[in-house]
Amino acid sequence: MANPSLLILPGDGIGPEVMAEVRRAIDWFGAKRGLVFDVSEDLVGGCAYDAHGTPLTDETMAKAQEVDAVLLGAVGGPKYDKLDFSVKPERGLLRLRKEMDLFSNLRPAQCFDALADFSSLKREVVAGLDIMIIRELTSGVYFGEPRGIHKEGNERVGINTQRYTESEIARVARSAFELARKRSNKVCSMEKANVMESGILWRDVVQEVHDAEYPDVELSHMYADAGAMQLTRWPKQFDVIVTDNLFGDLLSDLAAMLTGSLGMLPSASLGLPMANGRPKALYEPVHGSAPDIAGQGKANPIACILSFAMALRYSFDEGANADLLEGAVQTVLADGVRTADLMGPDGGTPVSTTEMGDAILAALD
Ligand code: NAI
Ligand code: MG
Repeated sequence: MANPSLLILPGDGIGPEVMAEVRRAIDWFGAKRGLVFDVSEDLVGGCAYDAHGTPLTDETMAKAQEVDAVLLGAVGGPKYDKLDFSVKPERGLLRLRKEMDLFSNLRPAQCFDALADFSSLKREVVAGLDIMIIRELTSGVYFGEPRGIHKEGNERVGINTQRYTESEIARVARSAFELARKRSNKVCSMEKANVMESGILWRDVVQEVHDAEYPDVELSHMYADAGAMQLTRWPKQFDVIVTDNLFGDLLSDLAAMLTGSLGMLPSASLGLPMANGRPKALYEPVHGSAPDIAGQGKANPIACILSFAMALRYSFDEGANADLLEGAVQTVLADGVRTADLMGPDGGTPVSTTEMGDAILAALD
């Protein structure tokens, strides 16, 4: 059988710096665990614009459609801020998400014990937290028509439309139930069915998919505003949360911050299954290109390394190897190894990006 294939798009700013540490982890799994990937690397974002006049070439797009998974660093930076909208670095990322139809965005909020005091919440509220927010990513109010700003009489009116079809809701609901079966079998769906018709449909369709296909999974429904309160009050009551694009944007950012630094947060965006049964998939850290620290060896590579761990788990059925990699990160943090973004107010000496990579490889060994 052919090796699993991986397209790596390091991108701009700290993207290449953190991705270099992921490459070392990938090589480690090849050498020590016999898990060999066919890795190819390409340009996306500002660096692709510099080389080709476009943030994503058709060749790279085609390659992304063929591989088992794409791993992306970050795109953008001040150098590109003045570019025309059509060739902005972010357009490369948006094109990938859109053409791969990545409708299910997985954002874990996981609290590593060693960082529990780093949270703005009390230790007992966050210690051991491990929840997953699934945000619908390709529809809803960010895409619905009609939209725009126009004149009505002598004032301007801004319009956006929340629109969901049954099939759009059903497919993201399925992805939540599938995931729940691999975790603690519990899904909470969030909308605002009390004030929005699209929320009523959301609630009905999630319930129907549940009753017909996943009756074994425990399902609850919550209004999204109550969900926000519950997430800060007692987040451990949740396991998988599924919600629409807009509420998911807010709730996933909120949940992420329960646990600490941007430099720690991975994500996955999944689409429909390909011929090989695996979902189309793009893995990336939540953070951006961090121009303020780019090129200084200060970036925390953990978000990108944990994104690769998610790829192992969700694209390659390598849960045991994902556990191994996440365990190595946990060990290193417990040993007190910290990049600058993880330093508390009492200081200490931070390690560099490469030194964090060294420590994770040593823990893997
Ligand atoms: P950012 O995430 O790049 O940085 C926010 C703050 O967090 C900065 O102070 C940065 O130094 C810090 N930070 C981020 N990642 C870190 C890491 N791994 N280790 C240590 N510190 C880290 O967001 P910002 O500053 O709003 O955007 C900068 C550029 O990145 C912009 O051009 C923006 O458009 C782009 N961006 C790209 C994203 C992507 O590629 N998915 C997502 C967000 C922003
Ligand atoms: Mg957001």
